[in-house]
Amino acid sequence: MITFSEVLTVIEQGIHHIQYPNQPCRLYLPIKYILSSKGKKIRPALTLLACNLYQEDVSKAVDAALAWEIFHNFTLMHDDLMDNADKRRGETSVHKKWDNNTAILSGDTMLVLAYKYISRYSGEKLPILLNLFNQTTTEIFEGQEYDMQFETRSEVTEEEYLNMIRLKTAVMIGACLKTGAIIGGADEKDQSKLYEFGINLGLAFQIQDDILDVYGDSSVFGKNIGGDILCNKKTFLLISALNVANQSQKAELLNWLNTNNRPEEKINAVTALYNQLEIKNKARKRMDEYYEKAITALDQVKASQEEKKTLKSLAEELMNRKS
Ligand code: IPE
Ligand code: IPE
Ligand code: MG
Ligand code: MG
Ligand code: MG
Repeated sequence: MITFSEVLTVIEQGIHHIQYPNQPCRLYLPIKYILSSKGKKIRPALTLLACNLYQEDVSKAVDAALAWEIFHNFTLMHDDLMDNADKRRGETSVHKKWDNNTAILSGDTMLVLAYKYISRYSGEKLPILLNLFNQTTTEIFEGQEYDMQFETRSEVTEEEYLNMIRLKTAVMIGACLKTGAIIGGADEKDQSKLYEFGINLGLAFQIQDDILDVYGDSSVFGKNIGGDILCNKKTFLLISALNVANQSQKAELLNWLNTNNRPEEKINAVTALYNQLEIKNKARKRMDEYYEKAITALDQVKASQEEKKTLKSLAEELMNRKS
């Protein structure tokens, strides 16, 4: 059984060995920059750990794991541009360090690079892996589109929100696990159970990201606090607050949604309303429910408890993450 730190070493070496043309450096430098910044690398780790449930040697899953990590970093490069976010992993985000067009083009190049890696497979596995990759990446774009659309809507239902985060975040976590399972040779039932584990873990993960965006410590989280409030993102926190607020609290929240010229005051006022309404606890509770569902799905995967230990402890650690 492989340990988490062994998995990380394999991924970091893989990233280190990615080959880039020298010119134009303005296209390739931002890619090296984002890929060498301090991400948690949970997605490629999930691919390798899922593969390891079925095969001791995970080397066959490395290209697919790298494809997912490159794709994930591409989504972040474009996401920061879309969310007007200046900081990523404690560093200046690409569109701020360079400019918007550079973030678009370097991001596009990363998308192709991700495809290069997933296309390295051959035989009957190739179309299966490519189909999963195509389906998932398209769903992520759908989720990002909903996320954007919701910024300008004042009422978004919890159901719409859950569908949006399933698409923008959870399907990638599910697909990373399923990719590893396919390469490792899992049967279809295990592939689906690992996917289900990933979907529920991903839902919990995104609700937690929403919590950390308000309550995190910027120097640990690596992103500016309050970014979601400033963009009027329909996060789990905002939707729950609008659902439980009394008339005057709701009017105050809606008023802040229409105020864009006093950023600091807006963050403080919306946070204060969340505090009054005990929204952090509500979000945490919902997150824990999805985590429990994730563990139930993982328990149904046929491997032994011992073999699933690394995956399980990774899931557990993620629920207490600060970054
Ligand atoms: C950030 O994902 C994007 C979300 C889905 C919230 P991570 O928190 O996994 O980002 P890194 O790769 O560790 O920086
Ligand atoms: C991330 O959503 C989803 C994708 C990048 C696909 P967020 O916009 O909440 O992610 P962060 O908080 O910027 O990492
Ligand atoms: Mg963002
Ligand atoms: Mg976003
Ligand atoms: Mg976020």
